Amino acid sequence: MQTAGQPRPVTGRWMLTAFAIALVIGGVSLTLRGSGEDGTLLGLKLTARWSYLWFWWAYTAGAWATLLGPRLRTLAMHSRDFGLAFAAAHLVHVALVVWIYQVAEHPPGARTLEFFGVAVLFTYLLALLSFRRFAGWLTPRAVSVIRTVGVEYIALAFLVDFIGPPFAHTLKYAVSYGLFLALIVLGYGVRIGALLRRHAHSRPAWEPRCFDIQPAATTGVFCDASQHRL
Ligand code: HEM
Repeated sequence: MQTAGQPRPVTGRWMLTAFAIALVIGGVSLTLRGSGEDGTLLGLKLTARWSYLWFWWAYTAGAWATLLGPRLRTLAMHSRDFGLAFAAAHLVHVALVVWIYQVAEHPPGARTLEFFGVAVLFTYLLALLSFRRFAGWLTPRAVSVIRTVGVEYIALAFLVDFIGPPFAHTLKYAVSYGLFLALIVLGYGVRIGALLRRHAHSRPAWEPRCFDIQPAATTGVFCDASQHRL
């Protein structure tokens, strides 16, 4: 039930929308370029960008509120919804990863699989820990550490992939990489700014909390929105 001060429950709707659109993106890629390697790579590139948008909001929503105050309270309270929508959308990326190992002559190597595989594990571990019942299996401190490490690891995985191709002075590079790299830099900036603000003032403009452990601006993603309080 929705209580005063809490945002409307949107979790299921956002997860379904994020997943359905990722599915359409994947399907269109395979239809346009074929179900072989070409279509799958296009699908991987596009689904990664779609799920990154959800991740970015999950990663920064709490920090925006810490920096800019209670006006952004509702945004911060949706951190968990953004995070779970990211996890839902990314399922299609993971499915395409499985598919590329079936169709590619030279699929990604073991090191790539290991590095990004850990990010996938963190994604779904954090999703699981966003439910109080599962988080309760661990100590609050352990949940907090896993959240912080997991969220930063996923952010790093996006950075590594977006920073991969050499810089090009073209519109295509600007749209398909530059834009996302700019979001990554902005995301780190906002998070670091929020961290500094919290250290500088004993009480920030507004600080959402999850499970009464740690400010959501630090842990960012997948906090249980029902646990947020002023
Ligand atoms: C949470 C985990 C993951 C994240 C954050 C992630 C992120 C990304 C990003 C940002 C891209 C776009 C790269 C580009 O446009 O150049 C991408 C594409 C791709 N990803 Fe993932 N990925 C993840 C999991 C995986 C896994 C486990 C694999 C398996 C090895 C994988 C394989 C690929 C491949 C093959 C591409 C296409 C690269 C290309 O076009 O050359 N990803 N991923």
